[in-house]
Amino acid sequence: GRVLVIAGGLSHERDVSLRSGRRVAEALREVDVDVEQRDADADLLAYLRHDPPAAVFPLLHGAQGEDGGIQEVLALAELPYVGSPPISCRQTFDKPISKGLLEQAGLRTPRGAVLSQAAFRELGAAVLLDSLVKRLGLPLVVKPARGGSALGTSVVHKAEDLPSAMVECFAYGEAAMIEQLIEGTEIAVPVVDTGAGPHALPSVEIVAEPGTYDYHARYTAGTTEYYVPARLPDPTGRAVAQAAVTAHHALRLRDISRADMIVDADGTPWLLDINVAPGMTETSLLPQSARAAGIGLGDLARDLLSAAIE
Ligand code: DAL
Repeated sequence: GRVLVIAGGLSHERDVSLRSGRRVAEALREVDVDVEQRDADADLLAYLRHDPPAAVFPLLHGAQGEDGGIQEVLALAELPYVGSPPISCRQTFDKPISKGLLEQAGLRTPRGAVLSQAAFRELGAAVLLDSLVKRLGLPLVVKPARGGSALGTSVVHKAEDLPSAMVECFAYGEAAMIEQLIEGTEIAVPVVDTGAGPHALPSVEIVAEPGTYDYHARYTAGTTEYYVPARLPDPTGRAVAQAAVTAHHALRLRDISRADMIVDADGTPWLLDINVAPGMTETSLLPQSARAAGIGLGDLARDLLSAAIE
């Protein structure tokens, strides 16, 4: 039957989502799947009710898409969909919570702290920032506790730059996650499960100047270099694949995810972020990885949808 790709939404990553949705819908059409694409708006509920698709591929990024919102709606409508249960999405999208779960599973994450905008305002920026720098050192990475695509994220090398980084971050949410910057190689590892259990796809190495893999670098072709698979020695290659699969299990994810990490000079992977709705745009990481594995995006999406229906 007809399947539905949901893309757009109202998060800061709306444009990215529309690109992901278009790309997946086109890829599905190329493998002869009857597919329709819709935005997550008020009309969606009536549509799901009156003209239910056979299965749904939600490709909303950021809030509403990765925080379990749309998954809750699809679960209520009793529609099969690709992706993780609402609670898993909610926990994964909340960086302080997912960080805790990853560490409990034995994975490394950078030392960090969480700071709310209210605390930042009330207790005084100077005092807080001083104690943060004392505790964590420099350089630091400041990012929204809930968010994606590096929006609101900055690298801070000097203590005096921390306040403006915090203000920038609070434009995207009321809590900030501040972490030590880990030096090393930036790696992303997609995990997919089309029925045989979750397994890692080839790792993607991202070569950008440290701290510059920003929104522009992510979605403008030719601005960042990628190597697939990543240029890692064998044991490290296995370690990053294992870390991604362990993270997928630790967060109780389903079907698809992508683990973003830094591999340090000793070959240790440090988990930065796990995505439950990985980007599918022309420059996104998962499609590059699938291509390197010889898996067409349309075939992958169709297999994920079929597995969801079973
Ligand atoms: N948050 C974007 C979509 C990504 O991680 O690919």
